[in-house]
Amino acid sequence: MSVTNPSKQRAGSVVILAAGHGKRMKSAKPKVLHPLCGRPMIAWVLDQALVLEPERVVVVVGHGADEVERAVRALGLGERVRFVRQEPQLGTGHALQVCLPELGADPGVTVVLYGDMPCLRPETLRALVATQVESAGRGLAILTAVPDEPRGFGRILRDARGEVTGIVEERDATPEQKHIDEVNLGVYAFDGPGLVAALPKLSNQNAQNEYYLTDVLAAFVREGRAVRAVELDDHEEGLGVNTLAYLAEARWALQLRILEHHLENGVFIEDPATTYIDHGVEIGAGTRILPCTVIRTGSKVGKDCEVGPFAQLRAGAVLEDGAEIGNFVEVKNTRVGAHAKAKHLAYLGDGEIGARSNIGAGTIFANYDGVKKHVTKLGERVFVGSGSVIVAPNTIGDGATTGAGAIVTRDSNIGAGEVWVGVPAKKLPGKSSGAAKNDKDRRP
Ligand code: UD1
Ligand code: MG
Repeated sequence: MSVTNPSKQRAGSVVILAAGHGKRMKSAKPKVLHPLCGRPMIAWVLDQALVLEPERVVVVVGHGADEVERAVRALGLGERVRFVRQEPQLGTGHALQVCLPELGADPGVTVVLYGDMPCLRPETLRALVATQVESAGRGLAILTAVPDEPRGFGRILRDARGEVTGIVEERDATPEQKHIDEVNLGVYAFDGPGLVAALPKLSNQNAQNEYYLTDVLAAFVREGRAVRAVELDDHEEGLGVNTLAYLAEARWALQLRILEHHLENGVFIEDPATTYIDHGVEIGAGTRILPCTVIRTGSKVGKDCEVGPFAQLRAGAVLEDGAEIGNFVEVKNTRVGAHAKAKHLAYLGDGEIGARSNIGAGTIFANYDGVKKHVTKLGERVFVGSGSVIVAPNTIGDGATTGAGAIVTRDSNIGAGEVWVGVPAKKLPGKSSGAAKNDKDRRP
């Protein structure tokens, strides 16, 4: 077979191992559901799998199986993603054995991923599959690395010519083998029929009495199938999340990629080190994100906006072009119209704010009555005075004004151009809002 373009490399099947306990996380939550930049860790791994456009993705679940299945189904990836329960967990080889009914006799090139390795890049996985395909198709490709600290990993055994001959687990290794610095990351691309044939023959005669997937590699070598290593030089990619400290490290790695993506798109980020932007947030070019800002999954920011410093956009926050959200402002499930501004100290929850409205310092949309959330709707060019509390449900018409400190009780439904002041806020008779008149002055 000729060398195929690695950028187009596809797998027949991908198996994601996610049955393990993750005891070192010291958390009741299944390890692969810990959040990373706005989504569960396993969502990142499913992305890795789907890059390879496989016919099937099999997720091996065990600990917290119901919860993991529910979370993965909620991602809406469709029928291609299937689940296999591994109970009890008798090792990585056993995890693949329980997948045999799903894999069938010829699963095609079969890639194995770990649910706790969220940082692998698509290019790396495509290169791994390309290497498998180049090995005359019948062999396997394995991802290795030379980390600063090889402890805990299986070591790669090579012969005098440098060919990979096997993997020895640390607990089974001789003192000499423990000095080998090249390790197995646990990610492979197997010839499908070769894998299917080797799995039933695994034994658990080893220090851990587990069925080792690594023994399939030895079987491939015995059968004269090619075994090729792809060495990862970026250690961050191979990061396995075993503890909350590793989770924090992975979060930072993924966060940097998200920030780089926005910077490339023309979003100005003054201080990446203090800017948190989750996965899947759209931000228009020309927008400025100032330090200490948090933008959560489910928010959307238009062009030429300004967010921060010290602002938080939560799910459902939508900033239209030119909107400005300043320090200590939290926006949740609220559409902020074009060129509208809330520059200081506000909570804008479950609202709609029309274009060019100005939200004064200290404004609160009181959206929650203790039982239900309600909506606050502001028209265009509304001027909300400092320290206003608008109790939802409520509407405020175009060009209306509230005075400083107004408590607008629920269902006040302020008409266009009206001025309301006081506690509780009342309409000022005979006054029409200066806001509408002064509108030209407030244009940016
Ligand atoms: C395995 C490799 C080792 C490699 C290391 C990389 C084997 C025998 N050893 O080590 O060479 O250096 O990964 O991290 O494969 N899992 C299941 N079911 C099981 C056992 C594990 O789903 O029965 C999952 C775990 O949730 C985890 C992954 O497989 O995501 C790896 O398991 P772990 O126990 O961490 O790896 P080791 O077997 O120690
Ligand atoms: Mg183990």
